[in-house]
Amino acid sequence: MTVIITIDGIAASGKSSVASRVASKLKVPYISSGYLYRAVTYLVYVTQTDPADQDAIVAVLQTHPLTLIPRPEENEVWQGEENYTPFLHTTEVDLTVSEIAQHPKVRTWVTEQLKDLPPPFVAEGRDMGTAVFPHARHKFYLIASPRVRAQRRAKERPEDLESIQAALEMRDREDRVQSRPAEDAHVVETSDMTLEQVVEHILKGVYLDSHSL
Ligand code: DC
Repeated sequence: MTVIITIDGIAASGKSSVASRVASKLKVPYISSGYLYRAVTYLVYVTQTDPADQDAIVAVLQTHPLTLIPRPEENEVWQGEENYTPFLHTTEVDLTVSEIAQHPKVRTWVTEQLKDLPPPFVAEGRDMGTAVFPHARHKFYLIASPRVRAQRRAKERPEDLESIQAALEMRDREDRVQSRPAEDAHVVETSDMTLEQVVEHILKGVYLDSHSL
């Protein structure tokens, strides 16, 4: 298989778990673009770069190159000899990543890191099917109701449902410019589906796309 499968979606739509399982079923690498945005954010934090200054951020990326390593279960991001992966989901990163991801020059930098990766792979994020891999053969966009997404997230974090839902709705507003389905994407409403059902649905979609004219 030499194809690219893109799985985009809104925050907490389950896209990372779905993408990594689809990739492992197909025995191809899984690529998380969110990890790169998170790693840039962590780099900004440790180097005390101004998060509002996109030129300064791009300059620090030249002197501190980041490498994304697609492992089968989870991606890793390294800065030189340092493994950044354990720091990508910290509160400092969560609070600033949306702001960093909105800078056009940062988005161009991330796109450059990803666009020449050799297929096959499954790429997951917000704009994989639109900006980064517009020619991908198979595109999916996952959605779910705010309540269901908050319930999913509450299983990972010890916070109350209302505040998780409010934070997700704010994240939706911040991400809305870059997060939208490609015109040729299959939009999958996952609110009433289990993870395994979403994975099966996508594998079936890939099979059907491959056998259509
Ligand atoms: O998927 P995630 O929660 O790890 O993404 C972290 C942040 O990066 C989130 O604010 C959206 C942003 N992001 C983006 O703008 N474009 C992508 N392709 C992936 C993530």
